[in-house]
Parts: sequence; structure tokens; C-alpha cells
Amino acid sequence: MSLIKRQFVLSLLLLLLCQAPVAREYDPDNGEEINEVCAGCHGEYGQGSEDGEYPRLAAQPPGWMAKQLNLFKDRKRPNIAMIEYVDDRQMPEEDIQDVSIFLSQIKLKTKLEPVDETAPDFDAYARLLESKKLMQIPLAEGDVGRGKKLYAEECASCHGKQGWGSHKKDTPMLAGQYTNYLWRQVEKLRKRLRIHEEDEPDKELLDDVKDADLKDIFAYLSTMDD
Ligand code: HEC
Ligand code: HEC
Repeated sequence: MSLIKRQFVLSLLLLLLCQAPVAREYDPDNGEEINEVCAGCHGEYGQGSEDGEYPRLAAQPPGWMAKQLNLFKDRKRPNIAMIEYVDDRQMPEEDIQDVSIFLSQIKLKTKLEPVDETAPDFDAYARLLESKKLMQIPLAEGDVGRGKKLYAEECASCHGKQGWGSHKKDTPMLAGQYTNYLWRQVEKLRKRLRIHEEDEPDKELLDDVKDADLKDIFAYLSTMDD
């Protein structure tokens, strides 16, 4: 190949390389820093609030959380509490990605391992920190056996066999989420303030599920938090 030809090919390659979209790397420090803002409502570990006012975020699918943040930002999903935190100035797309990944990687336990608190190497402070990362969903009333069957028939295909959602399919967990919060979202979905299935935005699948059935489904899910 002549020198000129070679230079031409090289510069062409360089041009192509420069134009290829470069995937941005996840920045865990940034994710952690952004989460300090979220922690004011959702808790330091994304555990939400016990009364279900603020949902649990820990271990939810990152793609799904990023999608919700963009829906809040674009005012396509109403969330008055969060609107001032998600405008473009406060939350550019990189921050949305980082905080979503950061939260998706937090694992909350539902029980502490038994330890000997009288052992000489017992670390009371570490134990305290660990206990703060515990999360339990209070048992909801209803027929758990019936709920299990209904859940398997009507919800499991998307929300996962055990109710833990899917990071691959970007579906949120229902087990491990506060029952009050789930009921509130059922209302919003039925009022079309939220869209359940993207390919059928006008049809709400929960319109066809009776409240008595949902009650049993949520009773079952509240037993599946660990
Ligand atoms: C001032 C309180 C407040 C702050 C701060 C806040 N949130 Fe929220 N967030 C809420 C409330 C309230 C909801 C539930 C809204 C609803 O009922 O639909 C919510 C819902 C969410 C949801 C949807 C969860 C679900 O299961 O549907 C995500 C994701 C979320 N917040 C992420 C964040 C992130 C990330 C931050 C930090 C950048 C943050 N939030 C900061 C109050 C807050
Ligand atoms: C075809 C798939 C599919 C089926 C079946 C399905 N869901 Fe969902 N569900 C989703 C998706 C996807 C979302 C997230 C929507 C969004 O916010 O973008 C969701 C969200 C929810 C939410 C809101 C959760 C949150 O944290 O914000 C509730 C509550 C819910 N579903 C309940 C149910 C129940 C109960 C059933 C069974 C009766 C069910 N879903 C069946 C796909 C499905």
C-alpha cells in the first residue's frame, strides 16, 4: 500500500473511532454522592420508609429506576415530592444512571446472623450498622395460599416466580416492597397516571383483577420478603 493510501485508511479509521458512541463507565462515587439526596426520603440504603410513604429502591432493576427518574423529570409519572430533584440541572442523565446502578447493587438482609455478643472480637458498631440494613415487610392480611396461586397465574410471568422482579426484563419487585405502597400504585395504574404495559398503554391489566384477589396476592407477597 502506498504511504498516502495508508495514511488515508488510517485517518478514516480514526474518524470512525471518534464517532463511535463511547459507553460511559459507571462511577460508583458519584452514585453514592447522589444517593445522599435520595436518602433523605428513601433511607440511606434505599430501604424506603416503614409506612410505605417512600418506596424501597435497594436492589430494584437499574434500567427500570432510570426509566422512572426520566418519567418524573418529563412529568409523565406524577411525583410532586421529587420534581425539584430531577430537573436537568439537578439530575443530568449521567447522575440518573450512576444513582440507579448504585441503588440496584444494595443488598438488604431480612435477618441478622446470630453472633456471640460476649466474644472478645464482637464489634458492636459493625453490628449496629448491619442492623440498619435490615428490612422486613410487615405481614399483610389475606389468604396466602390463594394469593400464591393467583400470583403465579397472573403476575409471575413479568414480576418473577418469587416476586423479586427482573433486572433483565426491567420489571420491579413486588415482594420486598411495602404493601401500602403497592396499593397506592394500583390506584395510580388504574387511574392511568402510570402505564403498566408499554405496548398496551390504554389497557390496564389490574382493571380485570378484583381487590379481593389483589389482597390475597399482596398477603402472599408479604411472606416472600426473604
Ligand atoms: C422529598 C422526598 C424524596 C426524595 C428526596 C427522593 N424521592 Fe424518590 N420518591 C419519593 C416519593 C414520595 C415516591 C413515590 C411516588 C408515588 O407514590 O408514585 C418516590 C418514588 C421513587 C421511585 C419509584 C419507585 C417505585 O417503586 O415506583 C424511584 C425510582 C425514586 N423515587 C428514586 C429516587 C432517587 C434516585 C432519588 C435521589 C436522586 C429520590 N428518589 C429522591 C420521594 C422522594
Ligand atoms: C405483562 C407483564 C406484567 C404483568 C403480567 C404484571 N405486571 Fe405489574 N408491572 C409490569 C411492569 C413492566 C411494571 C413497571 C411499569 C413502569 O413503571 O414502567 C409493573 C409495575 C407494577 C406495579 C408498580 C410497582 C412499583 O414499585 O412501582 C405494581 C403494584 C404491579 N405491577 C402489580 C402487578 C400485579 C399485582 C400483577 C398481577 C395481577 C402484575 N403487576 C402483572 C409488568 C407486568
